[in-house]
Amino acid sequence: MIRYFFVMLLLDSSDQNLRAAGSAIAQGKIVAIPTETVYGLGADAFNAQAVAKIFAAKNRPTFDPLIVHVASASALDTVVRLVPPKARILVEALWPGPLTLVMPKREAIPDIVTAGLDTVGVRCPSHPVARKIIEYSGTAVAAPSANPFGYISPTTAMHVAKQLGDRVDMIIDGGPCAVGVESTVIDMTHEIPIVLRPGGMPLERIQELIGELAFPEKELKVFASPGQLKSHYAPHADLLLFEEGALARIDPASVPAHAAAIAFDTSMAEQLREATCFDMIYVLSPKGNILEAAANLFAVMRTADEAGFSTLYAERVPDAGLGRAINDRLYRASKKS
Ligand code: TXA
Ligand code: MG
Repeated sequence: MIRYFFVMLLLDSSDQNLRAAGSAIAQGKIVAIPTETVYGLGADAFNAQAVAKIFAAKNRPTFDPLIVHVASASALDTVVRLVPPKARILVEALWPGPLTLVMPKREAIPDIVTAGLDTVGVRCPSHPVARKIIEYSGTAVAAPSANPFGYISPTTAMHVAKQLGDRVDMIIDGGPCAVGVESTVIDMTHEIPIVLRPGGMPLERIQELIGELAFPEKELKVFASPGQLKSHYAPHADLLLFEEGALARIDPASVPAHAAAIAFDTSMAEQLREATCFDMIYVLSPKGNILEAAANLFAVMRTADEAGFSTLYAERVPDAGLGRAINDRLYRASKKS
């Protein structure tokens, strides 16, 4: 009897492995790479066939454009046609880091990367492993988050291995992601740049540098970035999202079986333990640190899914800094379609 095994290549981040990852990308393969935000699934951004493999592996609709990752700001000109002055300021102050800038694309970037748009989202990640791999690839790397379309983004190599292990050529383990939510995405093609996605770079820092930012209309908010479907970031469990402070006041009788809650910190968890009857209470950050909470958010949703809970209760956190990204992801997770 012949048996087929999928050989999953989960490799540590030794320099030899990073070189192997770089050349795999240069050869048109797809490689899962750690970044400071979430794990990405990378391919040569100038190779349409390689990029097509990403869409196939993720089951991602092709109207959803990818972010192109560069090893340093000096590679920006290979990808974009023009860097608006405000974008230049942000690049100089905030790269490398969790900030994606949408700018006019060069002809050489294939349509499949940008879903046919004449703009491209570019970012320079701060994770040293990501930058080494991109550098060794000798190209720019198109990479969405390395999760099946519609599910939560991976923040460890094991998350990727469990869900896409048999569909990628290689996974590089760079440890858990320090930021834990995806990059902030800003459309720089307007005089007043538009926030397409709140994320790992606080909007306050961006406003300090370039002033006013525009926000798409409420309804538009979700779709202004093509493919920013609400269903992004959703766990399998139903997530019920409440206003800040409301969770401790819900009627225990209204809570269904197999329900868990997500508490911001230990003191909120204590409150919930006394006032409610959840089967489990997950804590995002014991001492209530917003950065730690963001870093743990997706892993907590996954753990709850793996434990088989059918309903997850959560409440909004203060809407500032990374709290905005947390609230955005909780909101999307609560909207399944
Ligand atoms: O932190 C991150 O950004 C991670 C890591 C891997 O870098 N990547 C990531 O990629 O989150 P992805 O594909 O899951 O999300 C990229 C978002 C999409 O919602 C897409 O619509 C938007 O960026 N985007 C990319 N290019 C765009 C463009 N030209 N115009 C408008 N939105 C764009
Ligand atoms: Mg994604």
